[in-house]
Amino acid sequence: MDKLLINGGRRLEGEVRISGAKNAVLPIMAAALLTSGTCVIKNVPRLDDVSVMLSVLQELSVRSSWHKDVLRLDCAHVSPVAPSPEILGQIRASNLILGPLLGRFKEAEIGACGGCSIGCRPMNLHFAALEALGSKILPLETGYFAFAKSLQGNVVHLAFPSVGATENLIMAAVLAEGRTVLHNAAAEPEIVDLAGFINTMGGKISGAGSNVITIDGVKKLNGAEYTVMPDRIETGTFLVAGAMCGGSLRLSGARAEHNTALLAAMQQAGISCTYSMPNVNERFEEESFITLHGGGRPRPLQVVTASYPGFPTDMQPQLTAMLSLAQGRSSICESIFENRLAFAKELKKMGATIQTQDNCAIIDGVAKLNGAVVKAMDLRAGAALALAGLAAQGRTVIEQAAYIDRGYEDFVGKLSSLGADITRLSKQSEQGKQIKKITTANNCRLVV
Ligand code: UD1
Repeated sequence: MDKLLINGGRRLEGEVRISGAKNAVLPIMAAALLTSGTCVIKNVPRLDDVSVMLSVLQELSVRSSWHKDVLRLDCAHVSPVAPSPEILGQIRASNLILGPLLGRFKEAEIGACGGCSIGCRPMNLHFAALEALGSKILPLETGYFAFAKSLQGNVVHLAFPSVGATENLIMAAVLAEGRTVLHNAAAEPEIVDLAGFINTMGGKISGAGSNVITIDGVKKLNGAEYTVMPDRIETGTFLVAGAMCGGSLRLSGARAEHNTALLAAMQQAGISCTYSMPNVNERFEEESFITLHGGGRPRPLQVVTASYPGFPTDMQPQLTAMLSLAQGRSSICESIFENRLAFAKELKKMGATIQTQDNCAIIDGVAKLNGAVVKAMDLRAGAALALAGLAAQGRTVIEQAAYIDRGYEDFVGKLSSLGADITRLSKQSEQGKQIKKITTANNCRLVV
């Protein structure tokens, strides 16, 4: 497995460009299945999860080319065959092909989907929403078969504002007959981006970004060109990195209006950020930015994760890492995923003082963290440990660092460009197949 080697204690200075959002591009790629036309998706990040989703689409006979950050998907020859479980099982988001296949072909066979170890992640809300449109879901030995004679618009209420269930429902309902009104829908910016893409294809979706979304079914959708929104979790991760390491960062392309809960937490913690704040519905602009001036220990916080616009669960591990250095006692309660505080035991190996009980953590801030050998247990926990390593004294090794590649484009390159001393020890190097010298940011020479 990949490892990251970090020599901590360096200030971060400079500018990085925020990449396209993982959680927006994955449903947008799935939505391309709704058309027999060609979709051109721009600002697509080079991430392992995006590559896996592309493999899923290729199994369904989507033809593709991916040049720089532009992904072209030709969906003329798509058929609703069952993609191989080995590929589906690599990411949870592969379940997002359910809605569009049901919408376009009125059937979909899908094996068990994968995901991180952060919680059990059932599909009951997806199924209940799709059944309300007239589809039937039959369990198979592994996975399920969904089908419908026809899909009919309906009034649907989600018992919980699940992001994935909202996306699958939108994608099925857009080719259903009549109007669907979805209540208690997820309001995440990525839902707004998905609706924006589908409307560019000729869909009629209104209310995305609120808890009531109206979808008027259309007969057919066309190919479209679309630019994916910037990644608010990458943005947050770099903000926390700057706060933990000190220094000044400028995150170009970052959208402050997508990160209000985190920016409010930063302000409360005494960390100074400035930002451009366009209208909520304005599209991504090059000139949007967030700057941060870090330095000194943060003030402690009390935080509970919640659905958008609450504090994002995907930023909880990074914030936990930051608060392990706060001046005083903080608490973080995780309300979305049941197993997302498990990584605290790795952070404790670096000297953090954290007690966890059920879904809450009490964090007594320490003056410094120490480098250690720690294991990434999932994507965001891996990123949080890397941030702790950047702020710690001494050397940190992050094992199972491949998790980080699932959701961060060029994580090592971007942090190195800001002055971090962070190096990837590749799988090949571990096996001794490739010996090369890498000069890291502080001229520490490693033979890997
Ligand atoms: C998406 C994001 C993920 C983020 C999460 C919550 C993508 C690709 N992933 O995941 O990064 O952490 O939103 O913001 O966009 N649940 C059920 N039954 C269901 C569906 C969900 O009980 O049918 C539960 C889940 O177990 C979890 C909670 O609802 O406890 C939130 O899940 P959901 O909003 O669906 O998250 P995802 O769409 O999987």
